[in-house]
Amino acid sequence: MVVYSAPAKIYLFGEHAVVYGKHAVAVAVDLRTRVELFERSDSSMYHTAADTRYIKEAVKVFSAIKDVKGVEIDVKSDIPIGAGLGSSAAVTVATLGALNDEFDGDLNKTKIANLAFKVEKSVQGVASPTDTFVSTVGGIVLVPDLIRILDTIEPAIVIGDTRTVGSTKELVEAVGELRSREPEVVDLIFDAIDTISTLGYSHLKLGDYARVGEFMNINHGLLDALGVGSLKLSTLVDVARSNGALGAKITGAGGGGCIVTICERDTVEAVCDAIKAHGGDAIVVDVANAGLRREE
Ligand code: MEV
Repeated sequence: MVVYSAPAKIYLFGEHAVVYGKHAVAVAVDLRTRVELFERSDSSMYHTAADTRYIKEAVKVFSAIKDVKGVEIDVKSDIPIGAGLGSSAAVTVATLGALNDEFDGDLNKTKIANLAFKVEKSVQGVASPTDTFVSTVGGIVLVPDLIRILDTIEPAIVIGDTRTVGSTKELVEAVGELRSREPEVVDLIFDAIDTISTLGYSHLKLGDYARVGEFMNINHGLLDALGVGSLKLSTLVDVARSNGALGAKITGAGGGGCIVTICERDTVEAVCDAIKAHGGDAIVVDVANAGLRREE
């Protein structure tokens, strides 16, 4: 029996534009999915509240590398499902990590991240390699370069969950449709997001969090312009900012799901209270330094 875990992720900058090859900055955060895996000699069994399609596809893809007669898999997760925090990537990565160990797959992290991306793509139809890569390596990652650029940041990261769900597939399609109708305008928005991600990355490296926050705010406005906002998301963004957050924006595909804010430590409580008072769940997280890891 082996246990592996993998973390959730947020985007500081760049979602949606990243689908068109633009830069983004994504961060692994310390909400984790744990996968406990036993080998079985016959069929497979899954015990999980999560979507089993990702687990089954991971077992199928791994079975092309090593013979797997059957497995029993138990999943426990801190990551809200369908909230844009990468819950499907985390369960996929942790399942592949556990399979690799139990069946001596000899896969390194790069290979696991690549296989996990393949699994997400075949289940969802659309995916960028961001979620699976960040969940595998941890830390703060520049996309599409897929390099880990930093281990941590000083401000707290507060996530506000609207408790509503957005479909990544539908939202990515809607942005694609807007782009085919208004390419000149939408490409300018993508270029602006690209600049925000690359300059935002420099501000992050310099520790200039006031400007990082400002760039998050501008990025939020551009996501709204792409049509992926909602009243609930805007309300949480608004109240987080007016209660002291340095920056607040949608994270992930939008439509529903979550906002992400960065906050000085002494404003965290006020920001969390404001999110809760406006119908959201507030989750305080730090950067997850460890990506995929074996649990004892
Ligand atoms: C979803 O978390 C982020 C999107 O950019 C889609 C993707 O990158 O796969 C909207």
